[in-house]
Amino acid sequence: MCCSCNIFYPPSFSLETQLLLCVFVFVEFIWCTLVRFTVYCFCLISLVDEAAREKLAPFSALSKDESYQSRDLETATQQEAKHLYDAKVQPTTLLPKQVGNMYTASLYAAFASLLHNKNDSLAGKRVIMFSYGSGLTATMFSFQLQNGQHPFSLLNIAMVMNVSEKLKSRLEFPPEKFVKTLKLMEHRYGAKAFVMSKDCSLLASGTYYLTEVDSMYRRFYAKKPGDGDNTDPMSTC
Ligand SMILES: *[C@@H]1O[C@H](CO)[C@@H](O)[C@H](O)[C@H]1NC(C)=O
Ligand SMILES: *[C@@H]1O[C@H](CO)[C@@H](O)[C@H](O)[C@H]1NC(C)=O
Repeated sequence: MCCSCNIFYPPSFSLETQLLLCVFVFVEFIWCTLVRFTVYCFCLISLVDEAAREKLAPFSALSKDESYQSRDLETATQQEAKHLYDAKVQPTTLLPKQVGNMYTASLYAAFASLLHNKNDSLAGKRVIMFSYGSGLTATMFSFQLQNGQHPFSLLNIAMVMNVSEKLKSRLEFPPEKFVKTLKLMEHRYGAKAFVMSKDCSLLASGTYYLTEVDSMYRRFYAKKPGDGDNTDPMSTC
């Protein structure tokens, strides 16, 4: 029914286990993402869920190209996948939704969201990390989570990440200021021989930040002092 299934799931994978949790990132423009996501869900449910397989059977006659275009298939698939989506994907969407596209960091932001939202129920669970972008490349890997010894217990990691507080401490800027900042970034993109503004009052304690790019494109960084590390010789603010 779905020709790309074997790309995502080699037959040797145990689907029931792999499906326990699934980190999914939206990194591409939305239509494309939805279509691919539909196919993705389609693959999952048509393989693991007998009832869903029956409901989607009428679409099995569609060719691969027709299946990409079919709105009915998209709707039916999303309906069938909703409970799986809510249980396995939705908890990973907090930071991607709140912060927006972070490109390379997106997958890990999704993982951080999962650690935050499911902090007390993750030990022993398997996570699938799957990302794709505008090119032809996609990556999928999986791992199993275990509680490490303190400070590496899953709950402590979630506490240190402090996701809710970090989201709450975001600052609001008017669009004009945002545009101005983007213009500056555009101007400096790939540029050399510039020094950054010294003002780092908006950065959180402990943040590493760029101070300068010299004429040989060497980048220099400093760290804003954090609690308990005021001895950093690189600190400049
Ligand atoms: C743990 O998960 C619960 C439920 O999602 C959430 O309310 C809480 O803030 C999380 N705790 C941490 C430390 O992330
Ligand atoms: C989380 O952030 C808040 C506000 O910045 C801070 O008061 C609190 O100590 C932080 N918690 C942890 C565990 O770092």
